[in-house]
Amino acid sequence: MPLPKAELHLHIEGTLEPELAFELAARNGVELPYADTDELRKAYQFEDLQSFLNLYYELMAVLRTEQDFADLADAYLARAAAQGVRHAEIFFDPQAHIARGLTMGTVVEGLWRALGRSEENHGVSTKLILCFLRDESADSALETLEAARPYLDRITGIGLDSAEVGHPPVKFREVYEAAAGLGLRRVAHAGEEGPPAYITEALDVLGVERIDHGLRCMEDPELVERLVRERIPLTLCPLSNVRLRAVDVLADHPLPAMLDAGLLCTVNSDDPAYFGGYVADNYHAVRDALGLTREQMRELARNSFRASFLEDDEERRAR
Ligand code: HPA
Ligand code: ZN
Repeated sequence: MPLPKAELHLHIEGTLEPELAFELAARNGVELPYADTDELRKAYQFEDLQSFLNLYYELMAVLRTEQDFADLADAYLARAAAQGVRHAEIFFDPQAHIARGLTMGTVVEGLWRALGRSEENHGVSTKLILCFLRDESADSALETLEAARPYLDRITGIGLDSAEVGHPPVKFREVYEAAAGLGLRRVAHAGEEGPPAYITEALDVLGVERIDHGLRCMEDPELVERLVRERIPLTLCPLSNVRLRAVDVLADHPLPAMLDAGLLCTVNSDDPAYFGGYVADNYHAVRDALGLTREQMRELARNSFRASFLEDDEERRAR
């Protein structure tokens, strides 16, 4: 039996497996520039975050209808359940879909067809987190939040993703303030490729409650102390870090040092269709490469519930 766990850093668009991409392409009459799934898989060689994002945005072209988003989410939830996930807080990137002519409604209603039945179908509770693309403008983020207003009963929080360097958190101060005013929870990717200062800024300027990735905090001992003191969770994604070359090899991953420092670390899959594994695969990979003990594995699973946005009673039920 896999350890019961929560997944807190998962981009739903990053769960698009090559087989489903081709199935949706055929269903929607979308031409993909790859002959078959093998050829597509061969394109999964990334130099850095941007080289991954290029393919990630390209493949989204196959997602056209509510049913496509429902099928995508349902496939993820089935896989996640098999890996011990009892609760998933799921990112989605509406701007990437709206730019292709879709509406916020198509995306949210589609995802909800799967999420709304996930507890009965898969035994997985869910929450939805709307991410802004940080390489788009601050005005575009504000428009996106406005477009989400009719769906806020289905959206728990906001996040910030896409190309990090050159797009500091402060760019999104206004939309984070507006979201806080609407009662939304706040997270942001920071310190994946960007400097430790982006982590500090996400906390101080955006008021985030969790940091996605946060790996580079280890370059700043004072920041580490603060993250420990304030019990700020970090949603780490070890296989992603190797594939996007944030670390050279898994054996070099700072996770053990981060746990030793007292940081509230969680392990997640990020974009599992692209990075070679779902969440339990990430747990097993760090255990094997870094020699984590059974107790450390349990600590990671416990942390995942603690760091979640579940209320206490929901958390008891999920575990
Ligand atoms: N980092 C930033 N943006 C992303 C990622 C990531 O790992 N995955 C999908 N969008
Ligand atoms: Zn991510």
